[in-house]
Amino acid sequence: PALAGPRRGALIVFEGIDRCGKSTQCSLLLESLQKQGVPAELWRFPDRTTLIGGLINEYLQKKASLNDAAVHMLFVANRHEKRDEMLRLLAGGTTLVLDRYSYSGVAYTAAKGVPHLGPDFCRSVESGLPAADLVVYLDLDPELSAARGGFGGERYEKLEFQKKVRSQYGALADGRWLRLDASQPAELLQAQVAAAVQRVVEQAAAGEQLGQLWD
Ligand code: TMP
Ligand code: MG
Repeated sequence: PALAGPRRGALIVFEGIDRCGKSTQCSLLLESLQKQGVPAELWRFPDRTTLIGGLINEYLQKKASLNDAAVHMLFVANRHEKRDEMLRLLAGGTTLVLDRYSYSGVAYTAAKGVPHLGPDFCRSVESGLPAADLVVYLDLDPELSAARGGFGGERYEKLEFQKKVRSQYGALADGRWLRLDASQPAELLQAQVAAAVQRVVEQAAAGEQLGQLWD
Protein backbone atom coordinates (compact mmCIF):
# COMPACT_ATOMS: atom_id res chain seq x y z
CA PRO A 1 0.00 0.00 0.00
CA ALA A 2 1.20 3.48 -0.91
CA LEU A 3 0.58 4.92 2.52
CA ALA A 4 1.96 2.11 4.67
CA GLY A 5 2.61 3.53 8.11
CA PRO A 6 5.15 2.22 10.58
CA ARG A 7 4.81 -1.45 11.45
CA ARG A 8 2.27 -1.66 14.25
CA GLY A 9 3.15 -2.75 17.75
CA ALA A 10 1.66 -5.79 19.48
CA LEU A 11 -0.76 -5.75 22.40
CA ILE A 12 0.45 -8.23 25.00
CA VAL A 13 -1.66 -8.78 28.12
CA PHE A 14 -0.74 -10.57 31.34
CA GLU A 15 -3.58 -12.00 33.40
CA GLY A 16 -3.96 -14.07 36.54
CA ILE A 17 -5.09 -13.94 40.14
CA ASP A 18 -3.45 -11.58 42.63
CA ARG A 19 0.20 -12.40 43.48
CA CYS A 20 0.65 -14.85 40.60
CA GLY A 21 3.80 -13.10 39.35
CA LYS A 22 2.39 -10.86 36.62
CA SER A 23 4.28 -7.73 37.56
CA THR A 24 7.61 -9.57 37.66
CA GLN A 25 7.00 -11.14 34.24
CA CYS A 26 5.85 -7.82 32.78
CA SER A 27 9.05 -6.10 33.88
CA LEU A 28 11.25 -8.93 32.63
CA LEU A 29 9.49 -8.86 29.27
CA LEU A 30 9.76 -5.09 28.93
CA GLU A 31 13.45 -5.24 29.66
CA SER A 32 14.05 -7.98 27.11
CA LEU A 33 12.02 -6.19 24.39
CA GLN A 34 13.94 -2.99 24.97
CA LYS A 35 17.25 -4.86 24.82
CA GLN A 36 16.23 -6.20 21.42
CA GLY A 37 15.42 -2.69 20.24
CA VAL A 38 11.65 -3.28 20.10
CA PRO A 39 9.88 -0.04 21.09
CA ALA A 40 7.74 -1.01 24.07
CA GLU A 41 5.88 0.39 27.06
CA LEU A 42 4.54 -1.28 30.18
CA TRP A 43 1.12 -0.17 31.43
CA ARG A 44 -1.07 -1.51 34.18
CA PHE A 45 -4.81 -1.60 34.72
CA PRO A 46 -6.32 -0.24 36.80
CA ASP A 47 -4.33 2.89 35.96
CA ARG A 48 -4.57 4.46 39.40
CA THR A 49 -3.10 7.79 38.25
CA THR A 50 -6.24 9.10 36.52
CA LEU A 51 -9.30 10.67 38.23
CA ILE A 52 -11.26 7.48 37.70
CA GLY A 53 -8.28 5.40 38.77
CA GLY A 54 -8.11 7.36 42.01
CA LEU A 55 -11.65 6.28 42.86
CA ILE A 56 -10.80 2.67 42.03
CA ASN A 57 -7.75 2.90 44.27
CA GLU A 58 -9.86 4.13 47.19
CA TYR A 59 -12.25 1.25 46.65
CA LEU A 60 -9.47 -1.34 46.49
CA GLN A 61 -7.86 0.05 49.62
CA LYS A 62 -11.23 -0.10 51.37
CA LYS A 63 -11.31 3.66 51.93
CA ALA A 64 -14.46 4.00 49.83
CA SER A 65 -17.37 1.69 49.24
CA LEU A 66 -19.13 1.42 45.92
CA ASN A 67 -21.65 -1.11 44.75
CA ASP A 68 -20.50 -3.88 42.43
CA ALA A 69 -22.01 -2.40 39.27
CA ALA A 70 -20.63 1.07 39.96
CA VAL A 71 -17.09 -0.09 40.58
CA HIS A 72 -17.25 -2.40 37.58
CA MET A 73 -18.13 0.59 35.38
CA LEU A 74 -15.19 2.52 36.81
CA PHE A 75 -12.76 -0.26 35.87
CA VAL A 76 -14.31 -0.28 32.38
CA ALA A 77 -14.16 3.51 32.08
CA ASN A 78 -10.52 3.40 33.17
CA ARG A 79 -9.75 1.28 30.09
CA HIS A 80 -11.90 3.35 27.73
CA GLU A 81 -10.23 6.56 28.86
CA LYS A 82 -6.89 5.10 27.72
CA ARG A 83 -8.19 3.68 24.42
CA ASP A 84 -7.12 6.44 22.06
CA GLU A 85 -3.62 6.59 23.48
CA MET A 86 -3.30 2.81 23.26
CA LEU A 87 -4.37 2.82 19.61
CA ARG A 88 -2.06 5.71 18.79
CA LEU A 89 0.96 3.99 20.33
CA LEU A 90 0.21 0.64 18.68
CA ALA A 91 -0.29 2.26 15.28
CA GLY A 92 2.99 4.12 15.73
CA GLY A 93 4.86 0.85 16.24
CA THR A 94 5.07 0.65 20.04
CA THR A 95 4.40 -2.75 21.60
CA LEU A 96 2.28 -2.44 24.73
CA VAL A 97 2.70 -4.82 27.64
CA LEU A 98 -0.34 -4.64 29.91
CA ASP A 99 -0.39 -5.85 33.50
CA ARG A 100 -4.14 -6.75 33.54
CA TYR A 101 -6.82 -5.61 31.10
CA SER A 102 -10.43 -6.38 30.15
CA TYR A 103 -10.01 -10.06 31.00
CA SER A 104 -9.52 -9.07 34.66
CA GLY A 105 -12.64 -6.96 34.36
CA VAL A 106 -14.69 -9.98 33.38
CA ALA A 107 -13.07 -12.53 35.70
CA TYR A 108 -13.18 -10.44 38.88
CA THR A 109 -16.67 -9.04 38.50
CA ALA A 110 -18.15 -12.33 37.29
CA ALA A 111 -16.55 -14.02 40.32
CA LYS A 112 -18.85 -11.95 42.54
CA GLY A 113 -21.80 -13.95 41.26
CA VAL A 114 -24.14 -10.95 40.93
CA PRO A 115 -26.84 -12.09 38.47
CA HIS A 116 -26.92 -8.91 36.35
CA LEU A 117 -23.09 -8.70 36.26
CA GLY A 118 -22.36 -12.02 34.60
CA PRO A 119 -19.66 -12.72 32.00
CA ASP A 120 -21.84 -11.76 29.00
CA PHE A 121 -22.69 -8.38 30.45
CA CYS A 122 -19.07 -7.81 31.43
CA ARG A 123 -17.82 -8.60 27.94
CA SER A 124 -20.39 -6.34 26.31
CA VAL A 125 -19.12 -3.16 27.98
CA GLU A 126 -15.57 -3.80 26.77
CA SER A 127 -16.60 -3.48 23.14
CA GLY A 128 -14.66 -0.95 21.13
CA LEU A 129 -11.43 -1.68 22.93
CA PRO A 130 -8.58 -3.41 21.11
CA ALA A 131 -8.23 -7.14 21.74
CA ALA A 132 -4.91 -8.55 22.89
CA ASP A 133 -2.67 -10.16 20.29
CA LEU A 134 -1.55 -12.45 23.09
CA VAL A 135 -2.94 -13.13 26.54
CA VAL A 136 -0.35 -14.67 28.84
CA TYR A 137 -2.30 -16.34 31.62
CA LEU A 138 -0.21 -17.12 34.69
CA ASP A 139 -2.21 -19.87 36.31
CA LEU A 140 -1.59 -20.44 40.00
CA ASP A 141 -3.35 -22.31 42.78
CA PRO A 142 -4.74 -19.59 45.11
CA GLU A 143 -3.41 -21.54 48.08
CA LEU A 144 0.10 -20.84 46.72
CA SER A 145 -0.50 -17.20 45.87
CA ALA A 146 -2.02 -16.61 49.31
CA ALA A 147 1.18 -17.92 50.87
CA ARG A 148 3.30 -15.41 48.91
CA GLY A 149 4.23 -12.22 50.72
CA GLY A 150 2.04 -9.16 50.51
CA PHE A 151 -1.24 -10.99 50.06
CA GLY A 152 -4.20 -9.81 52.06
CA GLY A 153 -4.06 -6.02 51.98
CA GLU A 154 -6.48 -5.13 49.20
CA ARG A 155 -10.16 -5.76 48.79
CA TYR A 156 -10.08 -8.87 46.61
CA GLU A 157 -7.12 -10.59 48.28
CA LYS A 158 -9.13 -13.29 50.03
CA LEU A 159 -8.53 -16.95 49.37
CA GLU A 160 -12.17 -17.89 48.73
CA PHE A 161 -12.66 -15.03 46.29
CA GLN A 162 -9.41 -15.78 44.46
CA LYS A 163 -10.62 -19.35 43.88
CA LYS A 164 -13.72 -17.99 42.19
CA VAL A 165 -11.64 -15.62 40.07
CA ARG A 166 -9.47 -18.51 38.95
CA SER A 167 -12.48 -20.48 37.86
CA GLN A 168 -13.77 -17.46 35.89
CA TYR A 169 -10.41 -17.18 34.13
CA GLY A 170 -10.73 -20.87 33.29
CA ALA A 171 -14.06 -20.22 31.62
CA LEU A 172 -12.77 -17.16 29.76
CA ALA A 173 -9.52 -18.60 28.43
CA ASP A 174 -9.65 -19.76 24.85
CA GLY A 175 -7.20 -21.78 22.81
CA ARG A 176 -5.27 -18.65 21.86
CA TRP A 177 -4.23 -17.84 25.43
CA LEU A 178 -0.78 -18.88 26.53
CA ARG A 179 -1.52 -20.62 29.81
CA LEU A 180 1.56 -21.09 31.94
CA ASP A 181 1.98 -22.85 35.24
CA ALA A 182 2.97 -19.89 37.41
CA SER A 183 4.47 -22.05 40.13
CA GLN A 184 7.58 -22.42 37.93
CA PRO A 185 10.67 -20.30 38.60
CA ALA A 186 10.52 -16.81 37.07
CA GLU A 187 13.40 -17.50 34.61
CA LEU A 188 11.62 -20.53 33.16
CA LEU A 189 8.41 -18.58 32.74
CA GLN A 190 10.29 -15.72 31.19
CA ALA A 191 11.74 -17.93 28.45
CA GLN A 192 8.31 -19.30 27.51
CA VAL A 193 6.82 -15.82 27.45
CA ALA A 194 9.66 -14.47 25.31
CA ALA A 195 9.21 -17.12 22.62
CA ALA A 196 5.48 -16.50 22.30
CA VAL A 197 5.88 -12.74 22.37
CA GLN A 198 8.47 -12.77 19.63
CA ARG A 199 5.99 -14.53 17.33
CA VAL A 200 3.17 -12.06 17.93
CA VAL A 201 5.45 -9.02 17.66
CA GLU A 202 6.56 -10.31 14.25
CA GLN A 203 2.99 -11.04 13.14
CA ALA A 204 1.83 -7.58 14.20
CA ALA A 205 4.73 -5.96 12.37
CA ALA A 206 3.92 -8.06 9.28
CA GLY A 207 0.48 -6.47 9.12
CA GLU A 208 -1.78 -8.80 11.08
CA GLN A 209 -4.84 -6.76 12.05
CA LEU A 210 -5.50 -5.73 15.60
CA GLY A 211 -8.65 -7.46 16.87
CA GLN A 212 -11.51 -5.88 18.79
CA LEU A 213 -13.17 -6.91 21.99
CA TRP A 214 -15.02 -9.01 22.21
CA ASP A 215 -13.85 -11.40 19.49
P1 TMP B 1 -3.58 -4.99 40.78
O1 TMP B 1 -3.43 -5.81 42.02
O2 TMP B 1 -3.04 -5.65 39.56
O3 TMP B 1 -3.13 -3.56 40.95
O4 TMP B 1 -5.16 -4.92 40.48
C1 TMP B 1 -6.01 -4.43 41.45
C2 TMP B 1 -7.18 -5.31 41.68
O5 TMP B 1 -8.26 -4.93 40.83
C3 TMP B 1 -6.96 -6.79 41.47
O6 TMP B 1 -7.50 -7.49 42.61
C4 TMP B 1 -7.79 -7.12 40.25
C5 TMP B 1 -8.88 -6.08 40.27
N1 TMP B 1 -9.44 -5.70 38.95
C6 TMP B 1 -10.81 -5.76 38.75
O7 TMP B 1 -11.55 -6.17 39.63
N2 TMP B 1 -11.33 -5.36 37.56
C7 TMP B 1 -10.54 -4.88 36.55
O8 TMP B 1 -11.04 -4.51 35.48
C8 TMP B 1 -9.11 -4.81 36.78
C9 TMP B 1 -8.22 -4.29 35.70
C10 TMP B 1 -8.60 -5.24 37.99
MG1 MG C 1 -3.26 -6.86 43.60
